[in-house]
Amino acid sequence: MSATANLGRATRPNGSRAMRPNGSSAGRNICQYKLVLLGESAVGKSSLVARFVNHMFTEFQDSTVGAAFMTQNVHLGDTTVKFDIWDTAGQERYHSLAPMYYRGAQAALVVYDITCAESFARAKSWVKELKSKGSPNVVIALSGNKADLEGSRVVDFQDAQSYADNNTLVFMETSAKTSKNVNEIFMAIANRLPKSQPQDKSGRNRGVDLTAGQPSNSHCCIMN
Ligand code: GTP
Ligand code: MG
Repeated sequence: MSATANLGRATRPNGSRAMRPNGSSAGRNICQYKLVLLGESAVGKSSLVARFVNHMFTEFQDSTVGAAFMTQNVHLGDTTVKFDIWDTAGQERYHSLAPMYYRGAQAALVVYDITCAESFARAKSWVKELKSKGSPNVVIALSGNKADLEGSRVVDFQDAQSYADNNTLVFMETSAKTSKNVNEIFMAIANRLPKSQPQDKSGRNRGVDLTAGQPSNSHCCIMN
């Protein structure tokens, strides 16, 4: 499934780089990255992807089996960032599959649920695993999801922020339900990714690396 984010033309109030809706890619720098979502079951990984890619939310989201793949483009200035998104299954029985999906990923979105302390602990263990076994220089973002459920919060915002700061993570509280910070966290990841890598069309990495060798840290930027 493929879609393109329509993120509006305006420069954001905080002065960060302008985001543009999809249009012709002519003359644009195109960068393609593999992004993986990790986190405990039911924290809202698939819901965040559905909000980002399809602009929708469902209360009855099925638990993911194995993993799901989607693509989404965002525009940063004159660069089109193409995300190949692997939405993994959080259920424990799928844990052993995760390395297939984070191997070679240039970016990871680790998700917890602000109403579930165990999910925050699980998110920390994913960050640790990514740092030890993921791609070198992988950009890691932490999402405290279900921010609309403030009345049921058990994970303190400041605790999560401090943890993120200490581990050099992008951090935002998000809500797939209300859209809060959903586009923003993907844009923050896009902003952090390197844009000046070797230009090699054949180096595009659209799939899961099923080899047991070293992570293939391939992403590619080309000029149209
Ligand atoms: P697995 O596929 O099992 O790993 O779960 P997941 O992390 O993909 O969670 P999923 O997106 O399936 O969401 C689980 C439940 O949480 C669903 O009932 C969603 O409707 C709900 N949910 C997801 N995001 C939010 C949110 O931001 N706010 C609220 N209130 N509910 C949410
Ligand atoms: Mg899911």
